[in-house]
Amino acid sequence: MGSYEITLIPGDGIGPEITKATLNIIEATGVDINWDRQIAGMEAMPKHGEPVPKELLDSIERNRIALKGPLTTVVGKGFRSANVTLRKELELYANLRPVKNIPGIKSRYDDIDLVIVRENTEDLYSGIEHVIAPGISQSIKVITAISSARIARWAFNYAQRMGRKKVTAGHKANIMKLSDGLFLDSAGDVSKEFPEIEYNDKIIDNLCMQLVMNPHQFDILLLSNLYGDIVSDLVAGMVGGLGVVPGANIGDKYAVFEAVHGSAPDIAGKNIANPTAMIFSALLMLRHLGEDDAADRIFSAVTRVYEEGKHVTRDIGGEADTTEFAEAVISKMEAPVLDSA
Ligand code: NAI
Repeated sequence: MGSYEITLIPGDGIGPEITKATLNIIEATGVDINWDRQIAGMEAMPKHGEPVPKELLDSIERNRIALKGPLTTVVGKGFRSANVTLRKELELYANLRPVKNIPGIKSRYDDIDLVIVRENTEDLYSGIEHVIAPGISQSIKVITAISSARIARWAFNYAQRMGRKKVTAGHKANIMKLSDGLFLDSAGDVSKEFPEIEYNDKIIDNLCMQLVMNPHQFDILLLSNLYGDIVSDLVAGMVGGLGVVPGANIGDKYAVFEAVHGSAPDIAGKNIANPTAMIFSALLMLRHLGEDDAADRIFSAVTRVYEEGKHVTRDIGGEADTTEFAEAVISKMEAPVLDSA
C-alpha cells in the first residue's frame, strides 16, 4: 500500500466543511495519505495576488494527483476562473462525470448509469471575449481537431477499459457547421478505431429531450465544454442532485478529483452541505490509485447510510448535518480485506 502524497485544495464556501468530512472518511479506511494543503481562488488572492498560485501548480506537478473542494469564481476583470485556469495549465483535458443512482436515494429515474466525458480546455470557455462596440460583445468559440480527437479517443478508451458499449456525441453541427462540425467529424473519425463500441451522435437540444424522455438509451455522452457543463448538471438532477455526483479532471500527466457542484454560498458555513459528491470524487481518486478495496468499503458504507435514511442531509430530505452524515458513514464502514500472503 505505502503512503501517498496528494495535493489537497479544501476550497471555499462549503469546501472546507465537505473536505473535513471526506478526509475523516478516507482516514477511516486506513489508506495512508499525506495531504499537501494548498490554497486557491479567493483565499489565495490576499497572499498571492492570483487565484492559482505557483505553489499550487508546483504541488500538483510534484504529486500528480489532487483532491479539490469547490472554488468561488473570483469576480473582477483580469482574472480567469481558478477552475478553468487549473484545467488549462495542467492540461486536464478530460472531465469525467459518472452519474448513477445511489441505492437509498429517491430520484426521478431508476437505473441511471451514464458517464459524461466533457472536453475541458476549449470551446466557449477559452476566455477569449471582447467588446466590439458599446452594446456589442463577442465570445469566441474555439474548437480544434487535436483537442476534439484527443477527448474522443479518451472517451472510447474509457469505454473499452470499463466495458461500456456505446458513445454518443452531442453537438449543434447543423448550425455551427465549422466548430461543432469539426468536433463531430473528429469524434466520427476516432470512432472508426473502436469498431466494437457502438457510436452515434445527437443534436444537443434533441439529446436533452431524449435524456428526459428515455435516458436508458445512452451510455457515454461525449460533449464539448459548454454542452458538457450544462448536460452534466441536468443528468445530476436525475439521480438526486448536485450534492451526490462526483467528478474528475484528467490529463495525460495529472488528475484533479472534485465534485460537480460549486461553493454553494447560500448554505456555506452552516455545516449542512451534503458531502457525498466530494466523498465519491475521493472514491474515484482511490480507484485511480488502485485502492479499490477502500473505495468499495466507502461506497457500501455511504449506500447503507442512504438506505437506512436516518442520517441524510437536507437536500435529500433528511435532517442530518455534514458531520453527522460523515460519522454515520464511518460507523458503517467494514474492516479492510487483509492480504492473505
Ligand atoms: P452551486 O453548485 O454552488 O450551487 C447550486 C445549488 O446547489 C445551491 O442551491 C446550493 O446550495 C446547492 N448545492 C450545491 N452543492 C451542494 C451540496 N454539496 N449539498 C447541498 N446543496 C448543494 O452553484 P452556483 O451557486 O452556481 O455557484 C456558486 C459558486 O461556485 C460560483 O462562484 C461558481 O463559479 C462556483 N463554482 C465552482 C465550481 C468548482 O469549483 N468546480 C463548479 C461550479 C460552480
